[in-house]
Amino acid sequence: MADPRLDRLRAVPLFAGCSDQEMRFIASHVEDVDIESGKTLCRKGESGGDFFVILEGKAEVDTGTTKKTLGPGDFFGEIALIDDGPRTATVRSVTAMRSLVLSHDQFRDVLRQNADITVKVLRAVTERLRDATALPSG
Ligand code: CMP
Repeated sequence: MADPRLDRLRAVPLFAGCSDQEMRFIASHVEDVDIESGKTLCRKGESGGDFFVILEGKAEVDTGTTKKTLGPGDFFGEIALIDDGPRTATVRSVTAMRSLVLSHDQFRDVLRQNADITVKVLRAVTERLRDATALPSG
């Protein structure tokens, strides 16, 4: 029988290319969390140990010079995958949200148990970094 939670996770671009077995691994290792509107989830310059994948709702990233709205399928807080060092932006929920929240320790468990998922997550993060720092063409 179709599992609605698995279907929702399958729709997240970050997990594109994950096998059914990998999706089940993610589903059983990471909780969905409800987040109220107006909550600060990361604060620029401060530490924080959580990585977020948005399933429902919207968040706003404020780097100090630019603002950007993120929605379902987007992720943020990737500094926490490696350490709890200073965040690069402040992120707030602008509506009620449902999100996957992965702590640094949970990511370590994923890394230990399923290197393929780790590579997929790191590839998505690297692609975004590459886009953000791309030199203008021409
Ligand atoms: P982190 O530094 O852990 O916490 C703040 C997050 O904001 C950061 O991870 C990214 O996920 C996100 N972020 C920072 N700068 C940008 C940007 N220019 N575009 C989109 N997201 C960003």
